[in-house]
Amino acid sequence: MNYKAPRGTRDIFGETVLGLNLLEQKAKEIFIRHGFEEVRTPIFEEAALFTRSIGQTTDIVEKEMYVFEDRKKRKLALRPEGTASLARAFIEHRMDISSPACKFFYSGEMFRYERPQAGRYRQFRQIGAEIYASSSPAADAEIIILAQQVLSSLGIDKINIHINSLGCEKCRPLFREALVKYFSSVEDLCEDCLRRLEKNPLRLLDCKIDSCKFTDVPEMSDYLCSDCKDNFSIVQLLLKKANCNFTVNGKLVRGLDYYTRTVFEVRSDAVGSQDALAAGGRYDNLIKEIGGQNTPAVGFAIGAERALLAAQSVGFFENLKSPEKIFVAIADQELFSEAFTFAVKITRDGINGNKNISVFGPINGKSLTNQLKFADKIQTSKTIVFAKTEFENGKVLIKNMKDKTQSEIELNKL
Ligand code: HAM
Repeated sequence: MNYKAPRGTRDIFGETVLGLNLLEQKAKEIFIRHGFEEVRTPIFEEAALFTRSIGQTTDIVEKEMYVFEDRKKRKLALRPEGTASLARAFIEHRMDISSPACKFFYSGEMFRYERPQAGRYRQFRQIGAEIYASSSPAADAEIIILAQQVLSSLGIDKINIHINSLGCEKCRPLFREALVKYFSSVEDLCEDCLRRLEKNPLRLLDCKIDSCKFTDVPEMSDYLCSDCKDNFSIVQLLLKKANCNFTVNGKLVRGLDYYTRTVFEVRSDAVGSQDALAAGGRYDNLIKEIGGQNTPAVGFAIGAERALLAAQSVGFFENLKSPEKIFVAIADQELFSEAFTFAVKITRDGINGNKNISVFGPINGKSLTNQLKFADKIQTSKTIVFAKTEFENGKVLIKNMKDKTQSEIELNKL
């Protein structure tokens, strides 16, 4: 065949689909327990929404967005993340009125033109949650605890939560100034760093080429104003009280510009050291910046592919209970409609109270031997055979496909 899935994308099937469904189901249960409501936004938006929200000089906007024009020359972009879209939807639908608790979650495909590697794709899934209209440090702590709870529900307990505070508009300019001064003294900065130095010096801390050259870089913690300091201490206190382990990492800056105060990343040895399983933080200015009212916000997103990698590495999926496969066969062709009706009945009612089943057959026009060969091939555990003599006595045969034993049972007992 001449066609392959585009680079950085993949087809998801088999065990991975089961794992993905389970992750989303567990996350959803946890979000609902925390009072979050689901929102689904479009897969593409006006490109300007992301440029404005994520920041003109970020890698995502400069290098990774899938931007295209539609037939009316509108500039659109496949969403690279969910936060900006949800903020747009929140403003557009006045969700502060319809859902006054202002807690929302989402899951879906995101798109970034990145260099693919294990756990890094150009199309990937994020599961995220956002709390609006709360500036309380308790909301920051809740978001971090949520990330931990969702990962833990998949058996991923060996995680390192890195947290930092990026300050607010009062204290960040001083840090910015210190950074510009520091970076101006570093020789041989890469092209990106030189270009970003004046506009957005924070981005340099995140540079994949130069960051190893930066020693003794100024850290935001030395510049935090007293409000930001107090706020960050309360976040830490609440996390400690909830037994949520974390490390304060003064170098953590994140790759998106909208953050204010608390930022965090959840890392695990199961995925590449520079890649996080989940990440997020507070972004108190974004909603106002894209046209809403002044609304503080905090949230996070888990990378589903990375969470699945980590879950696999702790053997979580080995315990997944896949449905029992049952094949309905006919020894005599004239019993086809009876067998068909029975197969339909058990797909609806289950068999002996078990609804976790997958039902196959009956197949018309094939010998019993061929039907049983097929049942073996698809690895059914049981085959229920409709045979004339037994059926006339209200019975069917049950064949155990593993040990090949066979017994009779009354049809109305199934
Ligand atoms: P982010 O750090 O860009 O933040 O992405 C969040 C998570 O998505 C990452 O930690 C990672 O697990 C996953 N991820 C990102 N890029 C890829 C990729 N190319 N392939 C696979 N997984 C990936 C955000 O997107 C923010 N919107 C998070 C947030 C929500 N902040 C506040 N609210």
